[in-house]
Amino acid sequence: MLLEVKDLKMYYEILGKGEVHAVDNVSFSLDKGETLGIVGESGCGKSSLAITILRLLPINGKIYGGEMLLNGEDILNMDLERFRREIRWKRISIVFQGAMNALNPVIKVGDQIAEAIMIHEKISKKEAMKRVIELLEMVGIDASRATSYPFEFSGGMRQRAMIAMALALNPEILIADEPTTALDVIVQAQILKLIKDIQRKLKLSVILISHDISMVSELSDRIAVMYAGQIVELGNIVDVYVNPLHPYTKALLSSVPSIKEKRRKLKSIPGAPPNLLNPPSGCRFHLRCPFKIDLCAEKEPDFIRASKGHFVKCHRFEELRGVDFR
Ligand SMILES: Nc1ncnc2c1ncn2[C@@H]1O[C@H](COP(=O)(O)OP(=O)(O)OP(=O)(O)O)[C@@H](O)[C@H]1O
Ligand SMILES: [Mg+2]
Repeated sequence: MLLEVKDLKMYYEILGKGEVHAVDNVSFSLDKGETLGIVGESGCGKSSLAITILRLLPINGKIYGGEMLLNGEDILNMDLERFRREIRWKRISIVFQGAMNALNPVIKVGDQIAEAIMIHEKISKKEAMKRVIELLEMVGIDASRATSYPFEFSGGMRQRAMIAMALALNPEILIADEPTTALDVIVQAQILKLIKDIQRKLKLSVILISHDISMVSELSDRIAVMYAGQIVELGNIVDVYVNPLHPYTKALLSSVPSIKEKRRKLKSIPGAPPNLLNPPSGCRFHLRCPFKIDLCAEKEPDFIRASKGHFVKCHRFEELRGVDFR
């Protein structure tokens, strides 16, 4: 096990109102060379989970508990200075959501990547530029483009440059937060292929975050489905995509178009995600769940092992095996 996250809790404090339960008792693990997809609706806490792993929290964000082990070493309680020096970017790196629009417009792309390397490693500009060229070529950008400014790059190229930057210090784990959201479908497919190729070539472990379960399932070995700050289902691709157990996963899948079933009607999930300042009692999905019973409002379900490696947080999953979302 490369990364092990257990019962992780991160809340945002809102003055006079309370706490936003953005990451609430999240547990998962990540193996070397594995891709874990994290999916869920907007606001369910995907980006919050990502920045919690990197310990890059805004001033009102606080970790309230849990464990985070990298190769068995506690990186949650590790001195922050040491975490910054040894873990962030060097071992766990991230392509932030919307990052391709965050390149500095007045600095050449190659120089920006070189600077990022030189902040962390004592090497000359010349050596850094050599590494930049290798990185650009790895992400499919011609070396000659190192001297271009960000505005001379297309959206897809800027995203490639951000991926190059995230790989600059040879991390073991790459977190990609909505890496294709702002791109057209052709470029989306190219970026996904790039991530897959790099993952294989470098034997990287990848955490791929998206609201799009069909996109994530193309690349991932396992999928974690998040709802209202919690993981409600976790399993390999077949478990989750073909035999979903949680009503929320079933609902997500019934909103995905399928070429095979031309006549199937797409369904949307009624209601809206809950306010995380005051999450619903019991199962957080019960207000939107067509299968709810009294127990669901009263008691929070455990994260139950349904079969080997397949976990679900639902009181009724056994009865609902094979039943579609209505
Ligand atoms: N700095 C902050 N202070 C207070 N609340 C925040 C802050 N950042 C995010 N939140 C809240 O935390 C919850 C989780 O947000 P987060 O951005 O992690 O969701 P997400 O799943 O990444 O959504 P999206 O798919 O839109 O990117 C939301 O309710 C959001 O409003
Ligand atoms: Mg997000």
